[in-house]
Amino acid sequence: MERQVEEAYDRFVARVRSVFGIELGLYKKPQMMRRLMSLMRRRGFDDFDRFLEALIADPKLRAEFVDRVTINVSEFFRNPELWALLDREVLASLSAQPKLRLWSAACSTGEEPYTLLMLLRERRSLRGVDLLATDIDEPALEKARAARYEARSLVSVPPSFRERYFVRDGDGYRVVDELVRAVRFERHDLLRDPYPPGPFDVIVNRNVAIYFTEDGKAHLYRSLAAVLRPGGYLFVGGTEQIFSPERYGLRQVYPFIYQKQEVRP
Ligand SMILES: C[S@@+](CC[C@H](N)C(=O)[O-])C[C@H]1O[C@@H](n2cnc3c(N)ncnc32)[C@H](O)[C@@H]1O
Repeated sequence: MERQVEEAYDRFVARVRSVFGIELGLYKKPQMMRRLMSLMRRRGFDDFDRFLEALIADPKLRAEFVDRVTINVSEFFRNPELWALLDREVLASLSAQPKLRLWSAACSTGEEPYTLLMLLRERRSLRGVDLLATDIDEPALEKARAARYEARSLVSVPPSFRERYFVRDGDGYRVVDELVRAVRFERHDLLRDPYPPGPFDVIVNRNVAIYFTEDGKAHLYRSLAAVLRPGGYLFVGGTEQIFSPERYGLRQVYPFIYQKQEVRP
């Protein structure tokens, strides 16, 4: 990347932080620059300064910008074999607890927390289950709350689950009320906001750390580990690995599943 463009991007990052409160500086730079420059070009801007002025003035462009920054791709049972592992090795033993506190952090349009609830519901009543699901992107959360999905997004849902946990809604499907009522969707920025107090038994945090810089990841894992209960589990994405998890008090117990260490007396 040309130096001048990079400097202009750095100024843009600083102004986006102060004007919109979005921390672009903790997202991987070349990737984020490419994404934003392609949006700028498509909308007829050739420099970051003019683009920022337009973002301030035009709410529609701003929404498009946030949409670019927050890659919302998600699906039910993403990496089914890993959900099966979580179910078998973690949910099976926890499901006898009368109260369970869970957090789907960066839940996008809701497929992830609903997947978690379907697996839990197979094992127990949802009474006593407190599931928080958060994302930085409010329009994604609105979709999650509406819980309505196109038929094609249900392709990885096992047929028996589709029967039990979805109802037809026009040409799509809606998640049954029992599951929708069991989750609280709230806006939360993993890089800037104070973390919810916890302690959580399980945190699912998948496919968002891949966009963060090493500093961003360190902040993320330190903060997630702090709100996990000792013995609680962190489930990460199918391409993600936490390097030296012990610096956060975590230990890898299965592929893509970490456990917070019990505090020694
Ligand atoms: C690729 S999706 C992953 C969704 C889901 N966890 C999954 O694995 O299918 C990434 C999500 O991270 C959210 N996100 C990006 N930056 C974030 C931040 N700083 N705080 C919270 N969520 C963020 C995006 O809005 C998007 O919904």
